[in-house]
Amino acid sequence: MGVIHQAAGLNEAGQGSEFSGEDPSSRGDIGIAPAGAGDLDALVRLEERAFAGDRLSRRSLRRFAAKRNGLLLVARCGGQVAGYVLVLMRKGSQRARLYSIAIDGARRGRGIGQALLGAGELSARRAGAGSIYLEVRADNESAIALYRKTGYRQFATIDGYYHDGAMALRLEKALADGAADRKGRDLT
Ligand SMILES: CC(C)(COP(=O)(O)OP(=O)(O)OC[C@H]1O[C@@H](n2cnc3c(N)ncnc32)[C@H](O)[C@@H]1OP(=O)(O)O)[C@@H](O)C(=O)NCCC(=O)NCCS
Repeated sequence: MGVIHQAAGLNEAGQGSEFSGEDPSSRGDIGIAPAGAGDLDALVRLEERAFAGDRLSRRSLRRFAAKRNGLLLVARCGGQVAGYVLVLMRKGSQRARLYSIAIDGARRGRGIGQALLGAGELSARRAGAGSIYLEVRADNESAIALYRKTGYRQFATIDGYYHDGAMALRLEKALADGAADRKGRDLT
């Protein structure tokens, strides 16, 4: 796959945006940026294809896209939405929640999920979060492998969490330093 670029405000080093100037998507590269109203149709389609139930509604997606606080991010490739990540922050809390992440089926396995996850974590850290947590279906092997690889560790399970009664694993990761990368190896 091509290079993955992050939009202004997402570059860890605080350098100028690689996203400005030539549109990287014109070269088949991936660009990551906050979602806009124009992404809604693609996001709804992606949500329908990626999840059998417990989906984000168009209304919710519109609300998160309108916030423009950088916590609903989309990856674009060739002008098409290739995936999204949604991170929620509660006022007064330093704990972010990775609410959802999905990559278009045809574009999985190329590093886009990991890049979007990293961009979501960076946005959360910039918004003041010291840690991030999430729920994942206990049978979602690809997502669990992604989280495990990137330093998340399991701290709880919830029976019957999903629409079909499936169990959720609750995972978390510290964002402030590298400690979570070391702890992540303990995930069982
Ligand atoms: C989970 C998901 C977001 C991963 O996105 P992706 O772009 O395919 O993932 P990446 O290519 O960035 O892979 C990063 C790592 O994730 C893991 N991974 C991804 N797909 C995997 C698979 N099919 N099997 C096992 N591990 C997998 C691997 O550790 C991989 O690292 P590697 O390539 O070095 O082996 C994607 O499969 C998806 O959208 N699934 C449907 C929606 C979903 O389940 N979302 C999670 C809700 S909690």
